Amino acid sequence: MNITTEVFRIDSINFEETIKKAALILKKGGIVAFPTETVYGLGADALNPEAVRKIFRAKGRPADNPLIVHIASKEQLYKLVMEVPVYATGLMDAFWPGPLTLVLKRKNVVPDITTGGLDTVAIRMPDNHISLELIREAGTPIAAPSANVSGRPSPTDAEHVIADLAGRINAVIDDGSVKIGVESTVVDVTGDIPVILRPGGIGIEDIRKLAGDAVIGYNDRLVGGEEAVRSPGMKYTHYSPQTEMVLVEGKGGEVSDKISELVATGHENGMLLGLLITEETASHVSADEMYSLGERDKPEQAARSLFTGLRWLDSRGLDVIIVDGSVKHEGIGAAVLNRLRKAADRII
Ligand code: TXA
Ligand code: MG
Repeated sequence: MNITTEVFRIDSINFEETIKKAALILKKGGIVAFPTETVYGLGADALNPEAVRKIFRAKGRPADNPLIVHIASKEQLYKLVMEVPVYATGLMDAFWPGPLTLVLKRKNVVPDITTGGLDTVAIRMPDNHISLELIREAGTPIAAPSANVSGRPSPTDAEHVIADLAGRINAVIDDGSVKIGVESTVVDVTGDIPVILRPGGIGIEDIRKLAGDAVIGYNDRLVGGEEAVRSPGMKYTHYSPQTEMVLVEGKGGEVSDKISELVATGHENGMLLGLLITEETASHVSADEMYSLGERDKPEQAARSLFTGLRWLDSRGLDVIIVDGSVKHEGIGAAVLNRLRKAADRII
């Protein structure tokens, strides 16, 4: 596979023309990476099986891991799904456009390849001007997983997309860094109560405020098993740097002490060490390369720096990346910890 990947740097002057060019590629069955508010997505016409097949090939994604379908209006939703429970309508009204993906019973227009053969389809309306205009201009819902090679950290900048997928995709729309930095919250709304399949940009607390007893249907550590049946993506390794990664969890002080100990031992053994670390811990410990996760109590800062930090540290020729898991676990912090746990080779 070696095709020319066009890079469209978008600005206010070339906006309409760029969207038109990218939409035309999608209409013709090509694949285009584009920014959303969460991470960059790799898009194709969700209703064109040949186009969707190209996404799986470009990413090296297992065929049973279904894609999220992105829409720009509620009218588009009702063409794709059967019934929508009342509580799900409430969630849409509150959080769309935004980082919330709803899993619903699909209609037959949605091809098997898009849903990994499931009778449900995952749908979201992104809160990003470029995404929304692109979907409108293409005139079709757009299937888009994160625009990374399967298993790698998600792309939060067009450079990450180019590093992973240049030569494998038709184009990327470059709008610099994304706003949120972790993916959408995935919620199964096919039953009487919502089941959270993946924590993400919308906090579980916020979903519960609206939809009462939402239950947790994911496990940060599980790879395979029961949960994989419900959310196929969860059984594969995810978000991982190539460098060995160790995650240290616990209360602030304990984490600082443990990381100091690991750094001392590593250095005695002649290792080069990187730290992905909160500001508070960084005032006690240092190592060969450091990348900040922001303040412990502000998990939205960690969300924004998490994948960029992992990719950057991974490029520094280190022996081990040590990650500070003292970030507050609430709100988007649940998504941060989930991604770190899935990426880690070892958790302490
Ligand atoms: O923020 C996001 O959600 C980003 C941007 C690009 O929109 N997209 C994204 O897509 O993260 P992806 O493919 O990397 O993750 C989709 C997740 C996977 O865990 C997949 O298994 C799950 O959603 N999923 C998709 N369709 C599903 C379905 N019908 N039932 C259950 N889980 C589904
Ligand atoms: Mg992904």
